[in-house]
Amino acid sequence: MYNRDFFRAKLERRKLSMVTCYDYTFARLLSRTAIDGILVGDSAAMVMHGHPSTLSMSVELMRLHTEAVVRGVAGKFVVADMPFLYFRKGRTAALDSAHVFMRAGAHAVKLEGVDGHEDVIQRMVQSGIPVMGHLGLQPQSVQVYGGFRVQGRSDASARDIVRQATVLEELGAFAIVLECIPANLAQEITEALRIPTIGIGAGAGCDGQILVLQDLLGLNMDFQPRFARPFLDGARSVQDAIAHFDEAVKAGAFPATEESYT
Ligand code: KIV
Repeated sequence: MYNRDFFRAKLERRKLSMVTCYDYTFARLLSRTAIDGILVGDSAAMVMHGHPSTLSMSVELMRLHTEAVVRGVAGKFVVADMPFLYFRKGRTAALDSAHVFMRAGAHAVKLEGVDGHEDVIQRMVQSGIPVMGHLGLQPQSVQVYGGFRVQGRSDASARDIVRQATVLEELGAFAIVLECIPANLAQEITEALRIPTIGIGAGAGCDGQILVLQDLLGLNMDFQPRFARPFLDGARSVQDAIAHFDEAVKAGAFPATEESYT
């Protein structure tokens, strides 16, 4: 899969599937699925490190997660998230950060928003770095929103998201994540663009869907947003397995003879 295949999928009306991934073990598992793309999301700050938002992510931490994922996912298209503010500190600093992720083996980077860093996106694309956009709820702006809130509900906000999507396409983004916006707005944007939209909490009208892997697997015990359908009761399965291990150890039933060396 290359970034141009995203475009082809839209032309052929083939839905795109993406998930987040932050580590080698899950990357190995994903490499044996038909998933189209993997996002090393800055949601790692929350999912893997327990922070309350993505604002704590750094380039160095993202590099480590990206390298681990790339080592595991032979043949998959990997997008690395640009962490909070690193693409707002000027074009050179932004390109330096993106360079770190491309050297780590990512095939593209994702940036939230567009206003104020149009030049950065354009320079990245011109320099051979495929750029994925991210509009609607931009988790890096959580302090401005005052929480993780659905965006694009008012007419003005909806028009602004449509405008930004058009700008991103003009700047050369190869796809746009649409997060937590009304389904009819996401559909309107999807129909207006030539590049694909990848939805998360943006309804079924997008060209593809992305979920945080831990949400998809039902591993997130703290909060399950309404769009994050768990396709597995992962938390229960993991806890049951560990309870069985604990019981077996305490009953002297583990390890068995065949699990021991002579
Ligand atoms: O970091 C992330 O997980 C994301 C997804 C929500 C798209 O940006």
